[in-house]
Amino acid sequence: MRYLTFALGKGRLAKKTMELFAQIGITCEEMQDAQTRKLIFVNEELKLKFFLAKAPDVPTYVEYGAADIGVVGKDTILEEGRRMYEVLDLGYGKCKMCVCGPESARELLKHQELIRVATKYPHIAKDYFYNQKHQTVEIIKLNGSIELAPIVGLSEVIVDIVETGSTLKENGLKVLEEVCPLSARMVVNQVSMKMENERIGKIMSRLKEVL
Ligand code: PRP
Repeated sequence: MRYLTFALGKGRLAKKTMELFAQIGITCEEMQDAQTRKLIFVNEELKLKFFLAKAPDVPTYVEYGAADIGVVGKDTILEEGRRMYEVLDLGYGKCKMCVCGPESARELLKHQELIRVATKYPHIAKDYFYNQKHQTVEIIKLNGSIELAPIVGLSEVIVDIVETGSTLKENGLKVLEEVCPLSARMVVNQVSMKMENERIGKIMSRLKEVL
């Protein structure tokens, strides 16, 4: 039997994912060691492999078939636009993609002004402003701490993930518009879905039972 390979987005989601998988008997002892610098983990008995990758790389591994299955946030799926099947909403990692800024920016959004939008998600931001709102904006790509941008005057608004809202609150910013809801999703390589239909189907149906 060939190995079935899972790519998991590093960080908060990976831990939750392994907790969920444990509920359906999919475990990986090697992965429990928090100190390890190992990149790939094996469950020989079940013929499974797991690896952790930067979230935006997970869809890449899955599209090319280097991983059969991936677990990653809907934000990353939308942003990366890779060819693969999105098969399950895993229900955790719930948050929202929002347009945020100071209260004073609300007017700028209403009047279709040419504003600057800072974001880690340029494709999502472009799609929202150009295709949904029909507003021309300048999109500025950042790599983190996006909330800084309107505070220091880099942009009028941001497009970013809001979970509890406390980062916004502590920085005097507000949700001005909601773009879409987000959560962790399971994605599958298109060829693996056919070649490993039985094993992947079984995993999916067991996950559906516990979700
Ligand atoms: C995310 C997001 C917000 C924050 C939202 O950032 O970009 O900054 O979490 O969470 P909250 O609504 O619960 O405050 P993350 O911690 O991933 O870091 P980054 O901005 O540097 O990417």
